Amino acid sequence: MKSQKKKGLRLVIVIAAFAAIGGLLFGYDTGAISGALLFIKRDLLLDDVQQEAVVAVLLLFAAISAPFAGHLADKFGRKRMIIAAAGLFIIGAFLMAFSVDYLMLLAGRAVVGAAIGTASMTVPLYISEISPASIRGMCVSLNQLMVTIGILAAFLVDLGFVHGGQWRWMLGISAIPALLLFTVMIFLPKSPRWLMSLGKRKEAEGIFNKLGNTPEETDVSVQRIETQLERKDSTWKQVFAPATRPAIFAGIFLAVLQQLTGINTIIYYAPTMLATVVKESDTAAILSTVGIGAVNVTMTVLALFLIDRWGRRPLLLFGTSLMAIALIGLGIANAMPDTVMDSLGWIFNIALFIYIAGFAIGLGPIAWLFLAEVYPLEIRGKAMSCGSFANWASNFIVAMTFLTILNYLGPSITFLMYGIICIFTIIFIYKYIPETKGKSLEEIQAFWQ
Ligand code: BGC
Repeated sequence: MKSQKKKGLRLVIVIAAFAAIGGLLFGYDTGAISGALLFIKRDLLLDDVQQEAVVAVLLLFAAISAPFAGHLADKFGRKRMIIAAAGLFIIGAFLMAFSVDYLMLLAGRAVVGAAIGTASMTVPLYISEISPASIRGMCVSLNQLMVTIGILAAFLVDLGFVHGGQWRWMLGISAIPALLLFTVMIFLPKSPRWLMSLGKRKEAEGIFNKLGNTPEETDVSVQRIETQLERKDSTWKQVFAPATRPAIFAGIFLAVLQQLTGINTIIYYAPTMLATVVKESDTAAILSTVGIGAVNVTMTVLALFLIDRWGRRPLLLFGTSLMAIALIGLGIANAMPDTVMDSLGWIFNIALFIYIAGFAIGLGPIAWLFLAEVYPLEIRGKAMSCGSFANWASNFIVAMTFLTILNYLGPSITFLMYGIICIFTIIFIYKYIPETKGKSLEEIQAFWQ
C-alpha cells in the first residue's frame, strides 16, 4: 500500500511538472521582448509609442482574458483550458515570428497575452486540484519555478541571438514548448474536483485513487466535496456573496500587491536602470540581469522545499521584509552624493539580488498558490480569475508608469515609495492572509465559512 501511495505521489509531481510548461511559456514570453525589441524597432521602423504598444498589448490581453478563462475553466474544465492556452501560444508564436508588419506583430503579442492570461490561472488551479494537501504547495509552486526558468531562458536566448539580431527566432522559438504542452495535456487526467462539480463521482474517484490516495482517503475527499457542493450554486453572484467576499478581497489584494511591490520594474527594466542609474556598460548590465534571473530561479527552488514545511505565512513575511530592506537601502543609497554612489555602484547590484531573493521565496510563488487554494470549488475558476485579472491589470499599470515615475521623482524617492508599499504589504499579510499549509482544499473552504 505504501509503495502504491509513493507511486501516486510521484505521478502527481510528474503531471504538475508537465502542466507547468504553461508557466515556462508565461515567463519566456514576458521576458523575451526586452531583448527582441532592440531589433524589432529597427526592422519594422517602430516609434516609441509603437514599441510601448508591443510590450503593453500582451499584459492588456492577459488581463482581459482572465475573467473569460475563469468562467470557461468552470464550464469546460481546467484541462481543456490549458490545452486551449497551448493552442493560443502556438498561434501567437507563428504570428510573431512571421510578422510582415507592425499590426501583425501586435496581433501575435495579443494572442500570446490571451494565452498567458489563461495559463497563468488555469495551470495553478489544475495542479492544486490534483495534489494532496501534504505536497500541494510544492506542486503548485512548480509553476512559478517554471515562470522563473522561462524568464532566465528568455534573457539567455536574447543574449544568444543578439549578434545576428534574429528577433523572429527569439519570439518564435516558444512554439516548441507550446507544442509539447498541447500534446502532453491531451494525455493527462482531468481535475477530479472539477469532475465532482459536474456530479461525475465515479470518474473522479478513479482519478483520486491513481493520484496517491488510499480508497479511504478518496472516500473522505469525495464526501467532503459533495457536502460542500450541496449548499452552493456557481454563479458570479455567488462569487461576491458575503461568505466568499473576505477570501475574494484577500486574493485580489495579494495579487495586486505582488505587482505594486515592483517586481517587474526589475524583471522588465533592470538593464535600463543599471545602465542609466549606475552607468554600467551594456554588457555588464545584461550580465547583471542574467544574475538576477538566476537568483530568481535558485530562491524559487528553495521556496519549493520550504513551502509545505514552514508554511505560507512565514515565507511571505520573511520574503517581503527582505524586499522592503533592499528597496529602502536603494532609496537611501541613491540619495547619497554622486561621488559616493559611483564607488558604491555594487550596492545597487547587491540590493537588487536581495530584493529578487525576497520576492522569489515569498510573493512570487505564494500569491499564485493562495489564489489557487482558497476558493470554494463551485466558483473556484471565476473567483481565481478576479485575482488573476487584478494581477495582470496592475502589472500593466506598473510597466506603463515606471520609467515616467523614475524620471519624474528620481531613483531615491521611487525606490522608497516601493519600499513603503512593501511595508504596507507585510502588515496586510500579517492581518489578513491565513495559513493554509497541510489543509485540504475543503478544510480551507470550511475556514472561510
Ligand atoms: C509574477 C510576474 C513576475 C514573475 C517573476 C510572477 O509570479 O506574476 O509578474 O514577472 O513572477 O518571477
